[in-house]
Amino acid sequence: MAGYRSWILLLTVAGWTRAEIKFNIPAGKFFSYELMRETFQSDFEPLSQLYLGHLYDDPMVFKCNKQHFPDLPEWLRFTQRHPYDNGFLYGTPTSPGKSVIEIYAVNKRSYETTRQILVLNVIAAKSLPYQAEFFIKLREIEKVLPPAVQDEIKQDLQKLWDTEDLDIVNISNALDRGGRVPLPLAGHFEGVYVKAGSEQNFSACLMRARAPEHQLQCAAGAKVKVPGGCNFCSIPSNCISWCSTELFDLSQVEPSPPPPTLGSDVLEAVEEFAPPESPEDRNFLPDYIVTVIVPLVLALILCLLLAFVMFGRREGVEKRNAKTNQIQLYHHHTILDNTDELRTMADHRGVPPPLSTLPMFDSRTGSRATPADSPRVPLIMAQHDPHVDTLPSRK
Ligand SMILES: *[C@@H]1O[C@H](CO)[C@@H](O)[C@H](O)[C@H]1NC(C)=O
Repeated sequence: MAGYRSWILLLTVAGWTRAEIKFNIPAGKFFSYELMRETFQSDFEPLSQLYLGHLYDDPMVFKCNKQHFPDLPEWLRFTQRHPYDNGFLYGTPTSPGKSVIEIYAVNKRSYETTRQILVLNVIAAKSLPYQAEFFIKLREIEKVLPPAVQDEIKQDLQKLWDTEDLDIVNISNALDRGGRVPLPLAGHFEGVYVKAGSEQNFSACLMRARAPEHQLQCAAGAKVKVPGGCNFCSIPSNCISWCSTELFDLSQVEPSPPPPTLGSDVLEAVEEFAPPESPEDRNFLPDYIVTVIVPLVLALILCLLLAFVMFGRREGVEKRNAKTNQIQLYHHHTILDNTDELRTMADHRGVPPPLSTLPMFDSRTGSRATPADSPRVPLIMAQHDPHVDTLPSRK
């Protein structure tokens, strides 16, 4: 017995052997399925933790797709606001058929994954003849999808419709229908559309939404209240916006157009295929002239123009400056002449320089020391003994 129990537990922990969950959904009725984080959490939990009675509360994200397909069926949507929230699969199937949905849960703490299989069997059903759509302004889709909230809304609508025979046909996010993302402030919500259907005709209250004066008021943008005696919302956030209420009477549906007649799948025999005659030759000369010759001529003209500007105009500039050049040339020559003249004058300077200009001239004795231009004589003599003639004798 104990062995049998642990075997069951092992199966649960492995996750992959979890039984398929099956649903039979009538076409045209709303379906929603809550992906409970707790159930997936028990798949992730190691045995020891289970025995200790301690469960983590891990963030989780889900990936849902139709088995062997990348995405969900067209009618089914998935939403999860936050990894710490439950996810929802919801939608309204329209045609009968079977879909196998794979749900992968990824634990964002340990990055383990587990899988669940959902088998949705859509069965044919008659669509409800009277349908009405309501807009709930103060709601978000995730807050409406839990079954308890759906029931609250349904009860309010049953009172409004004055019948017990009522089903929810569709619930959709206003953002999917062109709604705007609200400000991230308290009191701002995305809004939810709820469509309900019934076999019973619309109640007097609902018929008021059809009244022309009501529609005029709404078109004028006035804040129209739910008419007196028709306000059945028990919870303020479930109240409908009266102006966005729409009624659909599907009881007198026009007959669908006849299906197209099918042929025998065989094409009728026709005579042999005659290809059309080949078109006559085209004359490409005009094209050639336009695309090659004309640009070439233009380029040539531009070249000539540029050449003229570069060479012809330069000459003109020199002509204008010729006079200035001549003056400059004249200056140059006079400078040269003057220099020459100074040079020749300097050549004739044979007079010895005044004695006082010589470096070693003693004004008292009148003796002249060494030639001033001798490179071997230092300019300043070493003075070690004042009585000794320090001047080197030169022979
Ligand atoms: C339900 O609402 C969604 C969103 O507006 C829409 O795409 C879908 O066709 C609706 N389904 C039915 C059966 O009306």
